[in-house]
Amino acid sequence: MSRETSLFSGRPSELVGQQIAGYRIEQEIGRGGMAVVYRARDLRLERTVALKLLAPELARNDTFRRRFTHESRAAAAIDHPHIVPVFEAGETDGVLYIAMRFVAGSDLRHLLDREGPLPPATAVRVAAQVASALDAAHEHGLVHRDVKPGNILVSRGTDSDHPEHVYLTDFGLTKKSLSLTGFTTVGQFVGTLDYVAPEQISGKPVDARCDVYGFACVVFEILAGHPPFLRDDDMALLWAHQYDDPPPLTESRPGLPPRMDPVFAKALAKNPDDRYPSCLTFVAALRAATAGGGAGAGPAPARMGRPPGEEAPKPPPRWAEPVFVERT
Ligand SMILES: Nc1ncnc2c1ncn2[C@@H]1O[C@H](COP(=O)(O)OP(=O)(O)OP(=O)(O)O)[C@@H](O)[C@H]1O
Ligand SMILES: [Mg+2]
Repeated sequence: MSRETSLFSGRPSELVGQQIAGYRIEQEIGRGGMAVVYRARDLRLERTVALKLLAPELARNDTFRRRFTHESRAAAAIDHPHIVPVFEAGETDGVLYIAMRFVAGSDLRHLLDREGPLPPATAVRVAAQVASALDAAHEHGLVHRDVKPGNILVSRGTDSDHPEHVYLTDFGLTKKSLSLTGFTTVGQFVGTLDYVAPEQISGKPVDARCDVYGFACVVFEILAGHPPFLRDDDMALLWAHQYDDPPPLTESRPGLPPRMDPVFAKALAKNPDDRYPSCLTFVAALRAATAGGGAGAGPAPARMGRPPGEEAPKPPPRWAEPVFVERT
């Protein structure tokens, strides 16, 4: 087994305690389709970091390499409270790695799986933070391309007015743009297609508005408990993103104001020209649609089972509770 292979695909426990590029690996945090993320100790600065080791096959792909170098530099240059700071990106023994701030908490995927859909006020609070990160990235000429719950990290906020602090991560680290069908040349699946914009699928040039679409899919899921398009297989899902109208959000959450439906219809428009020009304008429209509509503290579906006439449980309202959960 070559060293690069063992670095990436070795059992997690084999890397714990090892040193890689000046970092001592402490614990595996998680893994996706193309990388493993570890909590590690930066031995030079004596601080904890998240160290992401990318699959060796990506280092051999010239397009990916170029993008990795370019986009990790660009992401590192953005100093934004809702973008995970990148400390270093490089290569060691044929493995690309990226060292970044370790975010204590969990990713939004884990959170939604655990909590189900979030109340509108919480959803808007989380969405606004992600939107500000995306818009800042766009102002720096960077398109994320892979906005999804797994790339949104939720940690403890500063106070009761800001119960959670949300970070966006993984700029440009997507294999999707390397293949139109969601599969690489060797037939490996590149990850979820739930949030992919029509123009990404058809191979057209993408800009900030592809992130508006992906982001709107994520916000839809935060509120509905599922992404806009549910299909049995990937081809049907790709077709739906390109040609099917998204279902109204209120079909899944009848308690929400119907005014939210046209907001999602616009954010999820097939033609990028028809979408909101930025993520924050989308969130502003969403906030306006939720405000005064009786939905601010409306119950999430998981809590809708109360029989008619029964007293509602007393506050605190769920929107005021932090959604932050400790990583287990
Ligand atoms: N900076 C960080 N601090 C703490 N945890 C992190 C950090 N970055 C990533 N993680 C955790 O590591 C997990 C794996 O990340 P990774 O990016 O490899 O996978 P993914 O985003 O879920 O899927 P994909 O491979 O499709 O990108 C994340 O879901 C997240 O929980
Ligand atoms: Mg990721």
